[in-house]
Amino acid sequence: MSDPASSHSIPCCLTVRDIRSLVAPWRQAGGRIALVPTMGALHEGHLSLVRQARQQAERVVVSIFVNPAQFAPHEDFSSYPRQLQRDLDLLQTVGIDAVFTPDAAVMYPAGFATTISMTGPAAAGLEDASRPVFFNGVATVVAKLLVQVAPDLAIFGEKDFQQLAVLKQLVLDLDLPVAVQGGPTMREADGLAMSSRNVYLSEPERAIAPALHHVLQNIKAGVAARQAVSPLIATAKTELEQAGFKMDYLVLRDAVTLGEWHGQLQGRLLVAAWLGKTRLIDNIAVDRVDTDRHIKD
Ligand code: PAJ
Repeated sequence: MSDPASSHSIPCCLTVRDIRSLVAPWRQAGGRIALVPTMGALHEGHLSLVRQARQQAERVVVSIFVNPAQFAPHEDFSSYPRQLQRDLDLLQTVGIDAVFTPDAAVMYPAGFATTISMTGPAAAGLEDASRPVFFNGVATVVAKLLVQVAPDLAIFGEKDFQQLAVLKQLVLDLDLPVAVQGGPTMREADGLAMSSRNVYLSEPERAIAPALHHVLQNIKAGVAARQAVSPLIATAKTELEQAGFKMDYLVLRDAVTLGEWHGQLQGRLLVAAWLGKTRLIDNIAVDRVDTDRHIKD
């Protein structure tokens, strides 16, 4: 085990052998172990997942690995923000038990030949439609992390709602002995969902960006007022385009299967749109309106 940030007391493991030997005695002692996988550039959204983990587990491991396998060649792998020292400072304030920071050679050594290929929620026509390699890359790296750390609990953000659904399915399909839990989306004061990619936004783009969340809230309010969904969505798309977004998708889906929504009890509104060179995503819950009672907020 080595410590790239010697001023920190959090053990920082760089290899699979190191993280396994650190975690093994914790497991033997019978404590619950939680893993929060991340790609670093941490913000309050990530830290909220870490706090959620701490409430439920005796030991918390955070992994930081910018996973090349989930980026397409034209995507932002090389420019993705990397700031390990700052990340360790932030994690120190929350208090965790270990950081796992493998590099690409540890995760994908020469000769690596396995990819987990998923359908179901990974083929819902949302993120997968414009990012065809994304979920196979995510599923492969998360399966590895779950085998490497062997946590009892793994926590992922609802911010990436389709990713959360995919990872629940992965764990089910591979019989991995870990509970997958979602954590609520943390937002800036103006409603913009926190994201490591928000740093890409120019000042004018940053001012426009919260419109993404606002249109979701408007649609939710419209559904609660029993308005038809399709015109609400059409209006919202027009509003976003007029504000300067280039739409990818804005849909209401079944929150469990991510399939078509036909008035199921739990719906999920999901949006993805480009603002200049930055692709933003967001989603909120939209529950069915029963005839005899109003929608929950
Ligand atoms: P990353 O984008 O770093 O996100 C790590 C975790 O933080 C994910 O579970 C994500 O959903 C969650 N998260 C991001 N923004 C959030 C917010 N505003 N509020 C709450 N949670 C938020 O997602 C990934 O990394 C990668 O795909 C990963 C799962 C680590 C696999 O490489």
